[in-house]
Amino acid sequence: MTQPRLLTGDRPTGKLHLGHYVGSLENRVRLQHQYECFFIIADLHMLTTKNSREDILESAENARHLVLDSLAAGIEPERATFYLQSAIPELSEINTLFQNLVTVPRLERIPSLKEMARAAGKEEMPYGLLGYPVLQAADILCVRAHIVPVGKDNASHVEVTREIARRFNGLYGEVFPIPELMIGDVPTLVGTDGRAKMSKSVGNTILLSDDEATVRRKVFSMYTDPARIRADIPGTVEGNPVFVYHDTFNPDRAEVDDLKRRYREGTVADVEVKERLTEAINAFLAPMRERRAAYEADRGYVETLIVEGTARTRDEVVLTVREMRSAMGLTSTWNRIRRRAEDRAKKIGAAG
Ligand code: TRP
Repeated sequence: MTQPRLLTGDRPTGKLHLGHYVGSLENRVRLQHQYECFFIIADLHMLTTKNSREDILESAENARHLVLDSLAAGIEPERATFYLQSAIPELSEINTLFQNLVTVPRLERIPSLKEMARAAGKEEMPYGLLGYPVLQAADILCVRAHIVPVGKDNASHVEVTREIARRFNGLYGEVFPIPELMIGDVPTLVGTDGRAKMSKSVGNTILLSDDEATVRRKVFSMYTDPARIRADIPGTVEGNPVFVYHDTFNPDRAEVDDLKRRYREGTVADVEVKERLTEAINAFLAPMRERRAAYEADRGYVETLIVEGTARTRDEVVLTVREMRSAMGLTSTWNRIRRRAEDRAKKIGAAG
C-alpha cells in the first residue's frame, strides 16, 4: 500500500530551536507514520539571502545539525528520506518550468519575502529571493507531496505552491496533487527576550541541542514582566514569555496554575518561576539529548542518510520531470526534431 506523502524542511543555516519544534517539528514527528516523509535540506533557498562562499561551506556542517535535530526530536531514520536540494539538478529544471505559472505582482505581495530581504540588509529584492516560493513549489511538487507541515511564515509559500499546481494541472493535465498546508499548535513562539518571534538571527533562542546549564542560563536571563521589580508586586501572566513557555513546555498543569496565581498575587519570586521552567524545559529536552548522543556517536551515519535519501529522492524527481515534460509537450518537441534528423541520416545512409 502506498502512503500519501509529506514534504517539509529547512535551510541549513544553523541548529533548530524550540520555536521550530512547536511550529513544525512536532507535526513532522506526529505525522511520520501516516505519511511517507521527505525532508529537504534547502541549501539553494539559503542562497537567496546568504550566498558567500563561506556561508556555502558551512552547509555541510549545518545539514548534519538539521538531520541530528530531526532525529533527536523523534523522526525515525528508517522511515524518513532526507535530501540535499543542490544535489538534485532536476529540481532547478522544475523551478524553471514553474516560473511561468505565477506572476511577479503575485510574488511581490508576499510579506515574508520583503521581510527576508530587509533582514538580509538588501535594499532591492534579489530575483532569486522573489522566486523563493516558486523553488519551494518545485521542492514540494517534485515528489508530489500531499501535506506540508511548516511554520506560519511559510504559509504563503505553500499557497503559491497550490496555485502553481492548479495552474499546471489546468494547462497540461492532472500531474500534481494539491498539497495541504499544516501549521503547528504554536504558530510563532515568543523569544527569550520577549520579542514576538524566537529567531536565530535575533539570538533569542533555546536550541534543541542546548545542554542543561545553557538552558538554565538562558531561562534565568529571560525577559519577564518589566513592571515587577520586586517579588511582592503583583505581575502580569498574559503574554509574559516565562509563562508562555510554561504553558507550552511544562506538562504539570497544576504547578503552572499555582505559579500563575502566586505571580498575579505577588507571592512568588521570579527565581522560583524560572527554576520550575528550567526543570520543565530540561525534562522536555532530555530524551532528545539522549537520542542525539546515540546518533552522533555513529560517525558518518547522518551523512549516509543524506546520501541515500538524496539518491532515492532524485529517482522520484526524474520521474516527475519526465512526466511534466511529456504533459507540457516538450518531449514531443524534441522527438519531432530528432525524428527528422534521423530520417535524414537514414536517407543519406541509404543513398551512400
Ligand atoms: N522555506 C523553508 C524555510 O523557511 C525551507 C523550505 C524550502 C521548505 N523548501 C521547502 C519547507 C519545502 C517546506 C517545503 O526555511
